[in-house]
Amino acid sequence: MKALVLSGGAGTRLRPITHTSAKQLVPVANKPILFYGLEAIADAGITEVAIVVGDTENEIRQAVGDGSAFGLDITYIRQDAPLGLAHAVLIAREFLGDDDFVMFLGDNFVFGGINDPVDQFHKERPDAQLLLTRVPDPSAFGVAELDDQGRLLRLEEKPREPRSDLALVGVYLFGPAIHEAVRAIEPSARGELEITDAVQWLLERDRDVRTTIITGYWKDTGNAADILDVNRRLLDLLDRRVDGDVDEASEIVGRVRIEAGATIRRSRIVGPAIIGPGTVVEDSYIGPSTSIAENCEIRNSEIEFSIILRESGFDSIRRVEGSLVGRNVRVSMAPRLPATHRLVIGDHGQVQISS
Ligand code: TTP
Repeated sequence: MKALVLSGGAGTRLRPITHTSAKQLVPVANKPILFYGLEAIADAGITEVAIVVGDTENEIRQAVGDGSAFGLDITYIRQDAPLGLAHAVLIAREFLGDDDFVMFLGDNFVFGGINDPVDQFHKERPDAQLLLTRVPDPSAFGVAELDDQGRLLRLEEKPREPRSDLALVGVYLFGPAIHEAVRAIEPSARGELEITDAVQWLLERDRDVRTTIITGYWKDTGNAADILDVNRRLLDLLDRRVDGDVDEASEIVGRVRIEAGATIRRSRIVGPAIIGPGTVVEDSYIGPSTSIAENCEIRNSEIEFSIILRESGFDSIRRVEGSLVGRNVRVSMAPRLPATHRLVIGDHGQVQISS
């Protein structure tokens, strides 16, 4: 079995972060979201992987390399424009050959990995196997309608009036029949070759399409709120480890990881939280569910339930929460004093907040 990892796309929901970088490389618990997917693929015993890339190809290549760090052999496939998930399968034909493969969306997060569905696929060898999960807002996803016996009746992409609350998880298992389907379908109203249409095409030709409902945690991290939620879940699993330099006047509470090379002065850090190497925290409070990447400077500030990317600085800001802040951002105090701030700021942004 091979793997096809989708890391192109436009990332419009994550602007401005995606103006300057790949959404799949946004770190959660200080590690790019894409890496968790690659680890899950390696853990399932798959080694031959192609990553579909778009405009952010160079950044993804730089981060992932030849895949050896993950125990994977990685090929890159350039997609000139984000023409849809089924289009990604279309352009990967040569790499995939007639092998079975798992298609994994590079911005998706599946707790518990993919070993079970991969094992099930190996045993049953259907033409397609879809993973489904119940969601409160199905209209944002591909939605599956099942009959009383749990057989798949129909798939619809982002329906206005969903027929069920079963959303497609961003992990699909396919046999070679999918290639005929992706060649046969036409672009949808939004101009994309939809994988849901390709699977629907198989269904209508009585091909063997199966579904598995997963109950574990899954997130499509297309927007900032979802990324913060994955970050929170991952930090909850963190072990306490303090390798950085913490002075006597600081207090570290609970599951906190302070990486070697970080400096904490006169501050209180309440876990679960992670502070990256080279980061300086002074006279500040870092609260639960917060990841601060490397080489940041946090001074006289309070930050909770947030992700701060590398080389960003906060000076005299209280209090920031529920925020995703890009690289090289500077946030400093302005003359007034509101109680909290919510920020989604792109890389190299400059913000002054009344505080
Ligand atoms: P989406 O999140 O559905 O699409 P997008 O990245 O264009 O984002 P937005 O809706 O915010 O504009 O894509 C799911 C994953 O698949 C994501 O990792 C990007 C990737 N992808 C491709 O590689 N090629 C494509 O043509 C599309 C549509 C997505």
